[in-house]
Amino acid sequence: MTTLFDPIQVGALALANRIAMAPLTRNRSPHAVPQAITATYYAQRATAGLLISEGTAISHQAQGYSDVPGLYAPEQVEGWKAVTAAVHAAGGKIVTQLWHVGRVSHTSLQPGLGAPVAPSAITAQTKTVLLDANGVASFVATSAPRALALDELPGIVADYRRAARAAMDAGFDGVEIHAANGYLLDQFLKTGANERTDTYGGSIENRSRLLLEVVAAVCDEIGADRTGIRLSPVTPANGIVDADPQPLFEYVLRQLAAHKLAFVHVIEGSTGGPRELADRPFDYAAAKAAYRDAGGQGAWMVNNGYTREMADAAVAAGADLVSFGRPFIANPDLVARLRQNGPYNEGNRSTYYGGGEAGYTDYPALG
Ligand SMILES: Cc1cc2nc3c(=O)[nH]c(=O)nc-3n(C[C@H](O)[C@H](O)[C@H](O)COP(=O)(O)O)c2cc1C
Repeated sequence: MTTLFDPIQVGALALANRIAMAPLTRNRSPHAVPQAITATYYAQRATAGLLISEGTAISHQAQGYSDVPGLYAPEQVEGWKAVTAAVHAAGGKIVTQLWHVGRVSHTSLQPGLGAPVAPSAITAQTKTVLLDANGVASFVATSAPRALALDELPGIVADYRRAARAAMDAGFDGVEIHAANGYLLDQFLKTGANERTDTYGGSIENRSRLLLEVVAAVCDEIGADRTGIRLSPVTPANGIVDADPQPLFEYVLRQLAAHKLAFVHVIEGSTGGPRELADRPFDYAAAKAAYRDAGGQGAWMVNNGYTREMADAAVAAGADLVSFGRPFIANPDLVARLRQNGPYNEGNRSTYYGGGEAGYTDYPALG
């Protein structure tokens, strides 16, 4: 019987086990440049079959939080080179999460202190993280966005393509396109944020268009066998909602099947919260079946609130990979701990976003 600890081939990547580190924003990259401690942090966690980096901005416009890393300037690529080298030296594999926050941003983070961009000029009912001069995090309401003009969209697709190329230059093993959690691509997908009347709004096909153009461009640039995607069909994260997510995501997954992606990463329920939402039912098995029926062969990665027992059950039920977020913050050697099912360190939420080594690289490993 297949277990969590068995190797697996995921596209071009030969993974040592089926445990992934979920993407985790840590706000420790001043001027959007990953630091030496970033390399230490990821290398400490390199026994995961796959590390997915924290969300990484594809452009200045894509930024929505203080001290989040990017992949749009040479010094950022240099910073990431040290990270990927350290992970590879430790025997691990790492992909970067390509991120455009869309409306989940603040004017203070935007080029020319302008408005954040979005499918439609609808403010996200959520907060972003800004750091003060002492690096102390505060949660601040997002700024009112402006709607993207039709002729700006090719530039955004080009930014994803450039960032994917920069990821390869930086030594990453691949990329995960962030289409989850109420950020730009999820904003285009969902009716609560997209009221466009052009070819990028209205029907399911139109709302999926930008996402599918980005997928096509990234796959063309670096290869589908090094490209994955993250989806969150029903999460309310960052004030996002869709009127009818089941047909939307079954359509998206059927379209993705043709792209031969390395993996599809699905957040089940509310990110970091309940896995079932009474007001937002969703049939994940049906979504997966839609993908497989359309010929999709990518690894199916599940996330949200998994324990060892739940992960065992998921693998037994056919999941290819299970990603863990908060457990990896507090347990650099999570794979070893999962193997013996504990003990697990508790994470300190006050050091999740921003700061230095404390709560980042100083969690103890076993024995
Ligand atoms: C501190 C923190 C930062 C996060 N940053 C990201 C991110 O950059 N990109 C993303 O897709 N999800 C992000 N998430 C969500 C996690 O990847 C994951 O979906 C969530 O924590 C649920 O998984 P878990 O129960 O294993 O922690 C973040 C979560 C936390 C707690």
